[in-house]
Amino acid sequence: MPETTVIAGSSPVGLAERLAERLGASLVTSNIRTFPDGESKITLAGTPAGRCIVVQSTHPPVDTNLIRALSLVHKAAERASGVTAVVPYMGYGRQDKEFLPGEVITLKAVAQLFRGAGADRVVTVDVHSMLGLSYFGGTVKNVSAVPELAGYFGSMNLDNPLVVSPDRGGRERASEFARILGTECLVLEKERDRKTGEVTVQSREADVGDRDAILVDDMISTGGSMVKAAEFLKTRGCRRVFAACTHALLVGGAAEKMGRAGVVRIVGANTIPGETAEVDVSGIVAGALA
Ligand code: R5P
Repeated sequence: MPETTVIAGSSPVGLAERLAERLGASLVTSNIRTFPDGESKITLAGTPAGRCIVVQSTHPPVDTNLIRALSLVHKAAERASGVTAVVPYMGYGRQDKEFLPGEVITLKAVAQLFRGAGADRVVTVDVHSMLGLSYFGGTVKNVSAVPELAGYFGSMNLDNPLVVSPDRGGRERASEFARILGTECLVLEKERDRKTGEVTVQSREADVGDRDAILVDDMISTGGSMVKAAEFLKTRGCRRVFAACTHALLVGGAAEKMGRAGVVRIVGANTIPGETAEVDVSGIVAGALA
């Protein structure tokens, strides 16, 4: 690979370090302070050279991390021979269409902002929807952490596991997870009230008795979807409930709520730092950059 610099934003720094190692690239970290008014003051701790790869997830605080990602891309573009924005978790991914009249498709604006800041390529992991991905044009690459997550659960030797998607939208993801694990997949029917946000879950065929269930989703935010699904599975006699996701945002006490609903363990990827970031995606991201 020609001379390459990985620029680590505020997070996930661990992933940026692993990427630099895998790619044989130099690593430049960032010193980031937050002013009392909320602005970020960013200073690179070194001088990037060659092609630059900026690593910054846009998890909460989403807008703060988004402006950090854009600022770093902009800085890198001043002298680099090309800039790739690696956004392991792409915030605003769920704002990919006008669900109610007048809603702004913010992800479309985000895609344009990355281009405008100077990113000629964008790499992300398990973006919420393919529609959302399309706003980034031909220079975007989305990789899936599902094989890594499924492999991780495979090594846990669960007894008679059943993979469960909390909603129809996650059918393909959960089916792939189940295929790798060599087991079946159940898809629950989730409805979310677009105005109140209230979630309800049901299923016509839920033979989960005495099995370990693995709830699989792209992300866990408030945990609402997982809580409803876990409660449903527990009332149907399921033994243990595990939660697997790529992006464990876990806002507003999500982990605790899920624990109360019967989830015994949450496993996420290192697209977002934290206790649940157990699965490393540096290999698949490096593959997308090669
Ligand atoms: C929805 O379509 C997503 O795949 C997730 O199920 C959802 O965004 C998770 O959000 P929360 O944890 O707040 O229910």
